[in-house]
Amino acid sequence: MELEKLLIKVICNDQLHVRLLNTLSLQENIGARKISASEQPETTTQMVLKHAAEEHRHAFYLKKQIDKILPGECPTYQPDYLLAPYATKYYLNKLDLETSRYLKNVLNLQGADLKFAAYLLVTYAIEVRADELYPVYQGLLNELDSRVSVRNIIVEEQGHLEEMIAQLRVFSPDWEHHASQITFIENQLYQNWIIELSSEVRAYE
Ligand SMILES: [Fe+2]
Ligand SMILES: [Fe+2]
Repeated sequence: MELEKLLIKVICNDQLHVRLLNTLSLQENIGARKISASEQPETTTQMVLKHAAEEHRHAFYLKKQIDKILPGECPTYQPDYLLAPYATKYYLNKLDLETSRYLKNVLNLQGADLKFAAYLLVTYAIEVRADELYPVYQGLLNELDSRVSVRNIIVEEQGHLEEMIAQLRVFSPDWEHHASQITFIENQLYQNWIIELSSEVRAYE
């Protein structure tokens, strides 16, 4: 299903909409936890701390949006409270795994260098996606007069993307080539996620 069509169906159904918000919240939360897990004394800067703090806040903010629709409907991230729970977790975990594999095989990285490079490239790919997805979602929320808003998140995600690009330039003069390999992998995983989301939404019809 095309993204806009999928989002309209979700926004127009409260049960689906709160589960989408909870699913996005989980993705932000997993992202935040991955940033914290990849932190190393050698590379943890103010930027890394800010980034982890903001992703945690996005998770909380999206969770709070649920209260505008069906308060208390999705108390945790248990599968019943999510859309496409397994594809959602698979998307992030597989992207991490494939990026680390690429950096190991192509650039011979290991240890702290590998962890930091994986953080930069995985985050870059996710931020490119977020910069596409959240504005489309916000546009539809406006059109459909929803009280839900993700405007605050959009501004911060744009900041993250700029920070990742600045760091990637320092990381390698060939960063654009490496980034395109990772966004190619991300795109396949994203398409898989959309297919799973679409089939769940259809099952509700
Ligand atoms: Fe975020
Ligand atoms: Fe972000």
